[in-house]
Amino acid sequence: METPAPPGPCRGHWKGNGITDLRISITHRCNYKCVYCRTGNEGALYGDLPFADYLRMARVLTGLGIQKVRITGGEPLLRKGVVDFVRELAKLRTTSGEDLDIALTTNGHLLADMAQPLKDAGLRRVTVSMDAVDPERFARITRVPDGYDNVLAGIRVSGRVGLWPVKVNCVLMRGFNEDQIIPFGMFAREEGVVVRFIEFMPLEEDRVWSPNTVVTLDEILRRMGEYRLLVEIPHARSETARRYRFEDGIGEIGIIAPVSHPFCGHCSRIRITSDGKIRTCLYGAYRGIGFGRQLSVVVIRTPGKARLQSCHNGFSCSQNSRIVFAFGVGVRQRLAGKGTTSVVPQER
Ligand SMILES: C[S@@+](CC[C@H](N)C(=O)[O-])C[C@H]1O[C@@H](n2cnc3c(N)ncnc32)[C@H](O)[C@@H]1O
Ligand code: SF4
Repeated sequence: METPAPPGPCRGHWKGNGITDLRISITHRCNYKCVYCRTGNEGALYGDLPFADYLRMARVLTGLGIQKVRITGGEPLLRKGVVDFVRELAKLRTTSGEDLDIALTTNGHLLADMAQPLKDAGLRRVTVSMDAVDPERFARITRVPDGYDNVLAGIRVSGRVGLWPVKVNCVLMRGFNEDQIIPFGMFAREEGVVVRFIEFMPLEEDRVWSPNTVVTLDEILRRMGEYRLLVEIPHARSETARRYRFEDGIGEIGIIAPVSHPFCGHCSRIRITSDGKIRTCLYGAYRGIGFGRQLSVVVIRTPGKARLQSCHNGFSCSQNSRIVFAFGVGVRQRLAGKGTTSVVPQER
């Protein structure tokens, strides 16, 4: 098969990072309606694929350098068969023959009963999203009554079964939960979890984003500093979170700041959407907002060896977030212009 030509504006100067992290959304359905994520009026906007299809794509991408896989959604624990899917993923090996690092991001509502089976199937770590440590506020944000206790139970059981370190993600939104910063600092220390604050991003379904609603990294640090001093922990270049420990060594927090401190140039991720599209970037549909840069991802082919590589030559690359795949035989590809590309890899 003829290798497709690289996207025009980037031809000849690929540079960037190796793509090593894969995120797979296994459903767009969700049992919560978080105010920053869902309108609350619609259900799933995209369909699901059979697990065998995600697995086939994961196998191909693992052969191109993926080392970490994170299962996400929608709410991934709603999907029947997720434990078996983890078990199958755990059979894949990286190009250097190592186990994949498999993690999952969940709202935690169903986690307490599933943590042990997931661990037994090969899941290594879990991230639980929780935007308030106060049950009433939690219900206001998720728009579901009485979820808080389930999520807390899920976090605790995950720690007990060794899905370690348990990370708790909190999206901060002005007017909803910015007063939860210090309570989350206390929570990290008391529960022995890593709390990570995420700056609110303008993603596909949001209806409420404006620059004023973003609680920035600097503000989080300033507020947390009023509680206890923080000391920054060195972090890997590709890590999205800046990490901090409290000065007495008890408790860790992280801050993911895609809005005030974009990290696109260090991005090592690629995503499969629940309906089987490959995306390079969450910002895919929001080019031109003024922060965040699109990445193009290409497969660099050298004889006998292929790898995924991002390219971030700035806005000259941002005309389309396109992906060129050259898996060898039996590849159907369609270059879309909106940050997504349908790729249906077939077995060699
Ligand atoms: C889309 S959810 C999917 C997994 C699962 N339902 C959950 O909530 O963890 C993945 C993560 O994205 C975060 N998220 C969703 N919309 C966001 C936004 N507009 N800005 C920042 N983070 C967002 C959520 O808080 C969650 O931590
Ligand atoms: S953030 Fe997660 S739990 Fe909340 S509505 Fe979105 S997908 Fe559902």
